[in-house]
Parts: sequence; structure tokens; C-alpha cells
Amino acid sequence: MLSKQMEKALNEQIALEAYASFLYLSMASWCELEGLEGCAKFMHRQSAEERDHMLRIFNYVNERDSHALTPQIKQPPLKFKSAVTLFEQVYKHEQKVTASINKIVGLCYKTDDFTTLHFLQWYVEEQREEEALMRSILDRINIIGEGPQSLYYIDQEIEKINAAEEAAEAAGEEAA
Ligand code: FEO
Repeated sequence: MLSKQMEKALNEQIALEAYASFLYLSMASWCELEGLEGCAKFMHRQSAEERDHMLRIFNYVNERDSHALTPQIKQPPLKFKSAVTLFEQVYKHEQKVTASINKIVGLCYKTDDFTTLHFLQWYVEEQREEEALMRSILDRINIIGEGPQSLYYIDQEIEKINAAEEAAEAAGEEAA
């Protein structure tokens, strides 16, 4: 069984991942309205990934004979100023998630919970990858610039990332 302190920390992480899923879903909707199809597809995939992140912790908490709580979800922003501010917000949110995971890792050491420490290694690696991906997207957007015509090129760049991710997923499925 998890300690009460760990159960609470993991339930807070469940809520954070769930919020990320809704935030990215809201971003996907905004991108669709703006005609940014590549960005919309990207955000839908991120949203689904965050739901998976949430469920992994959810299932882990119950597996450890503790109580996973279905979180209340705050309404995410519905409109965004531009593609740049959107990706800046994603990057900021991912940094918040990383800080939260690191805090729970610290708690694992403090309470000798090595099972949860092992479980969280996947998240530590995932956060490193997500932050690096968002930084690379922001770098590309900054190179392209932010004029009205730039949106087309930004969307094309995101579409290239979608294609690479889909190819990686397909390769993973073939190998499995
Ligand atoms: Fe699950 Fe992107 O944090």
C-alpha cells in the first residue's frame, strides 16, 4: 500500500496529466478553427498521450491497494493569441509537469518508496523527450517568424513532426 502522502502526490499528478489532456484538446480545437491542420493533429495526439499518462498513474495507484481519484477538471483556455503563444504555453505546462514529477521522485527517496521510484522512471524520460520536442518546435517557429504567411510554414513543420512520430509509432508496432 502507498503511504498517504504518496497517494496524495500521485492523485495530484493524475489531475495535472488530466488537465494537460484537456488543455491540448482545447488547443486542437482552436487549431482546427484556424485552419492549422498539422497543429490540430499534433495537439490531438498530445491530448491522447496525456490521457494515457494519467491512466498509467491511475492504474498504478489502485494496483498498490490505494485509491486513485478521478479529478475535477478546470476549464482550460479556449482561445489562443497565436501559434507561438500556444506552443509557449505547452512548453510552460510541460515544465510544470516535470517539476511535479521531480518532486514526487524526491518524495520516493525520502520515504524509501523504491517501487514508485522505479515506476516513475518512465515519466522522467518522457518529460525529457517532451520538453526537448517543444523546445525544438519553438526554435523552428522562431526561425520562420510570425507573419500571416508564416502560419502555413509553421503548420508544414508540425506536419513533418506528425509524420516522423507516426513512422516511429508504426516501426514500434512492427517490432512488437
Ligand atoms: Fe504527461 Fe506531457 O506530461
